[in-house]
Amino acid sequence: MADLEEHFNHTIEKDRRVEPRDWMPDGYRATMVRQIAQHAHSEIIGMQPEGEWITRAPSLRRKAILLAKVQDEAGHGLYLYSAAETLGADRAELTAMLIEGRQKYSSIFNYPTLGYADVGVIGWLVDGAAICNQVPLCRSSYGPYARAMIRICKEESFHQRQGYELLMTMMRGTEAQRAMVQDAVNRWWWPSLMMFGPPDDASPNTARSMAWKIKRHTNDELRQRFVDMTVPQAEALGVTLPDPDLRWNPERGQHDFGAIDWSELKRVISGDGPCNARRLAVRRAAHENGAWVREAATAHARKTAHAHET
Ligand code: 3HC
Repeated sequence: MADLEEHFNHTIEKDRRVEPRDWMPDGYRATMVRQIAQHAHSEIIGMQPEGEWITRAPSLRRKAILLAKVQDEAGHGLYLYSAAETLGADRAELTAMLIEGRQKYSSIFNYPTLGYADVGVIGWLVDGAAICNQVPLCRSSYGPYARAMIRICKEESFHQRQGYELLMTMMRGTEAQRAMVQDAVNRWWWPSLMMFGPPDDASPNTARSMAWKIKRHTNDELRQRFVDMTVPQAEALGVTLPDPDLRWNPERGQHDFGAIDWSELKRVISGDGPCNARRLAVRRAAHENGAWVREAATAHARKTAHAHET
């Protein structure tokens, strides 16, 4: 056992990948299943906020783009559930844990999409934050997770660009369109900062995830990177980020920004956000209404396997 542990530690130390058949500490396996499953749940639940605007997109082009994006999110969820299965997790059990509230998904998807500009702001800010968080995960120590991230990040950059282009178009539109964009930015800015998780000094998982090179940067480091990346984009767009304390700090070479309301993140994570009940109800209904498809696929697989045996 000592040799196995030594080999695992050497793999991590040398920045090599841990693969499904390798020995790994139970704690590493458990936290990988936890993070990958929640990431997958986030992708699947994340289809809902924007999905509500597919039938109301203002043109065929915008509808096609949004349809492609929402389908991408479904695909991201499926890659990630497959990555979780390489650790011995059972996809049906993970889905049950999500629906029964025994596993989390990202807080950001518990906010409503009140106008079409929200679709652009989600692409720009939420997918932009996801890119900041996910690019380092391409170097995560668990092989299947890191490899899933590479393809997800390529698609995420399309998501971010289509959102920003949508907003650019609206900002060149009428006063009312510009006001819609600013209103959406005001509602999504702080929840986007919360996506990165609690502050490092209140994050029970970060130290260990960093030691195992699951995470390559801390929550606060990635949040800061996102703020520094987004401020010039907001200036180019012509919107104001809703933080009076946001300013460039030449000493730090980074932006200072205002205090985040951590009680809001706590509330939303514990199920008391604006849309938590609705998101889980929709997910539960989709799962129940899709039971016949799973049963048919299982019966077909059994029949085909039987036919091959005889
Ligand atoms: N929403 C919900 N739960 C959150 C959260 C958030 N924004 N931030 C933290 N939490 C939870 C954690 O899951 C953990 O709870 P748990 O121990 O029961 O799992 C607890 O709060 C403490 O947080 P930690 O910082 O200690 O936990 P982690 O080390 O796991 O860090 C994380 C949280 C940064 C979200 C990390 O899990 C991570 O990087 N996950 C992978 C990326 C991801 O899931 N992104 C979510 C969005 S997916 C997305 O954006 C899709 C795109 O297409 C839009």
